[in-house]
Amino acid sequence: MNRVFIKTYGCQMNERDSDAVAAMLRERGYAIVDSEAEADIILLNTCSVREQAEQKAIGKAGRLLKARRLGLNAAAMTTGDSATPPPPGAPPLRLVGVIGCMAQNRGAALLDSLPDLDLVAGTQKFHRVPDHLDNLLAGLRALGPRPASIVDTEGEPGSQNTISAHSSHRAVSAFVSIMQGCDMNCTYCIVPKTRGRERARPMDEIVDEVRALAERGTKEVVLLGQLVNHYGLREFPTVDGKSPFVQLLEKINALDGIERIRFTSPHPAGFRADLVDCYRRLPKLCEDIHLPVQSGSDRILRAMRRTYTRERYLRIVEALRAANPAMRFSTDIIVGFPGETDADFEETLSLFDAVRFDMAFIFKYSPRSGTPAESLGDTVPREIKELRNQILLGRLETFSNASHRALVGTVREVLVECPSRKGNGLFMGRDRGGRKVLFPGTSGDVGRLLNIHVEKATTTVLMGTVA
Ligand code: SAH
Ligand code: SF4
Ligand code: F3S
Repeated sequence: MNRVFIKTYGCQMNERDSDAVAAMLRERGYAIVDSEAEADIILLNTCSVREQAEQKAIGKAGRLLKARRLGLNAAAMTTGDSATPPPPGAPPLRLVGVIGCMAQNRGAALLDSLPDLDLVAGTQKFHRVPDHLDNLLAGLRALGPRPASIVDTEGEPGSQNTISAHSSHRAVSAFVSIMQGCDMNCTYCIVPKTRGRERARPMDEIVDEVRALAERGTKEVVLLGQLVNHYGLREFPTVDGKSPFVQLLEKINALDGIERIRFTSPHPAGFRADLVDCYRRLPKLCEDIHLPVQSGSDRILRAMRRTYTRERYLRIVEALRAANPAMRFSTDIIVGFPGETDADFEETLSLFDAVRFDMAFIFKYSPRSGTPAESLGDTVPREIKELRNQILLGRLETFSNASHRALVGTVREVLVECPSRKGNGLFMGRDRGGRKVLFPGTSGDVGRLLNIHVEKATTTVLMGTVA
């Protein structure tokens, strides 16, 4: 049967990795299915960035393995009731694997709590997943005892070049992974451990991948990396004052068929004039920037080892707004980093107000074992973290409401992505700022750039009709 469902936790890099694994498995003759109920093989592509993310995946793996032990389908377990019969025709679960960041972070130790887990494959081993599944299935067919678990988490030079295949053939907007790893060592962060050292893919291979996507109908690419603006700094030279990342943006901007370029996430350190200038020169580059700030307090930024000051961050925002006044900013913020006082939090609030972010991810600090900040403990009480979180969410709602409302009556250029999930005859696209726009359309609109007259706005979407 060999029907695989991949459940993805975590960031866009993980979504991209899952898609590449799906493409590699398909190439090997596996079917990729859209729900756990249809699958006999389930892979969890995991995240370690906060404790909660790991606990969620471990809980899920435990329930799946229990279903497998009982000879049931995964769907039988989703209610948490082992007596629920699987849907008619549902295959019993045969293999369960954990891949990605938590596999890398915990490795063989995962087998202590999940002894019958079949596969643990780390972040440099996605391309080995088809071989591992082939071998596990051969072991199952051999009718002996259950095949031994496979744990594969070694580093592998060149593994960043293996994330290039795409499974969906007609995605309007596609993720493209341009580098792996992170050398920044922010004190709270597990990613340098889960993703390893910074490694760039060759520029030509990335350009070839984007060209192939464009030939298949992709109109927008989102370039991915933990530190996209640091792309290739070690591997490739700066040319005419332009960093390798800027050179890459220029090459992609020149490709026929590609209409829009976005990237995530850049780091304020190394966000220089050559990159700011791209927003004047490269028409396909969208005025939509996710620039994680983490805190507005210099004292906390120093303790986080973020290597920039609040002032420097605000200057980058100012330079980008000067390059394009329509620039839309989003950010990541951590509340409750060890030692964060009310005064520190006030600094974060005032920075939030100065930029008026209308999109942001706000995280409550979660101590990660093995990070430099671990020794600082977790000193901010849970209620204070919650309160700071709520205050920021309130600000965010105010700013996103106001910025959305200000667009009512204007015309937005929208790249149409797909029918709206609610299936009400509406189609979904995004404006250049990345805002979701809903409008009545037809399937022929998918992949086209349309001018939409905005008639209504909520906190999360704009609604309108074709102008
Ligand atoms: N490379 C990106 C971020 C990757 S992790 C960057 O540096 O901007 C995504 C976000 O998770 C981070 O921006 C941070 O806000 C949050 N995060 C990371 N470690 C965390 C921790 N230990 N506790 C809470 N949030 C964390
Ligand atoms: Fe983590 Fe910092 Fe690297 Fe981002 S830059 S992945 S927050 S260490
Ligand atoms: Fe999580 Fe790994 Fe992304 S730890 S945030 S899935 S890089």
